[in-house]
Amino acid sequence: MEIIKYPLQMHGDYRGHLVAVEEKKDIPFEIKRVYYIVDTAQGVVRGHHAHKSLEQVLVCVHGSVKITLDDGTERKTVVLDDPCDGLYVSNNIWREMSEFSEHAVLIVFASKFYDENDYIRDYDEFLKYVREQNN
Ligand code: TYD
Repeated sequence: MEIIKYPLQMHGDYRGHLVAVEEKKDIPFEIKRVYYIVDTAQGVVRGHHAHKSLEQVLVCVHGSVKITLDDGTERKTVVLDDPCDGLYVSNNIWREMSEFSEHAVLIVFASKFYDENDYIRDYDEFLKYVREQNN
């Protein structure tokens, strides 16, 4: 499994910093939805799901978070701690978010509106689904 990152440009001057994200330019898809994860309790692991068709780019704009990605064959972890570091998560990838630092803010850009039917929330079901897709 290849880890795909989208480096985002930091516009900085004496006032501080600004990062802009445009669809089909800074990230590869049209942005239908943006959500952010804040106030995460220490020690919590979020995610534990895959999507059948959703694509996402994750950016930790404050603090740090560990992202675990699993394509059903291998599992990789990435630490996000840079507001210019966009992590691409394609469909058919099981993801877990853990080790949130205190006050971490994780922003997610998503290619589709929220749809519970797009989720696979059971790991065994995920493995079965990706194996079927690959055959
Ligand atoms: P959940 O899927 O449990 O989050 P995570 O994957 O980070 O563990 O989502 C938490 C709640 O938020 C759940 O009730 C569904 C809701 N939600 C929305 O309403 N819209 C969204 O875009 C997302 C991602 C979640």
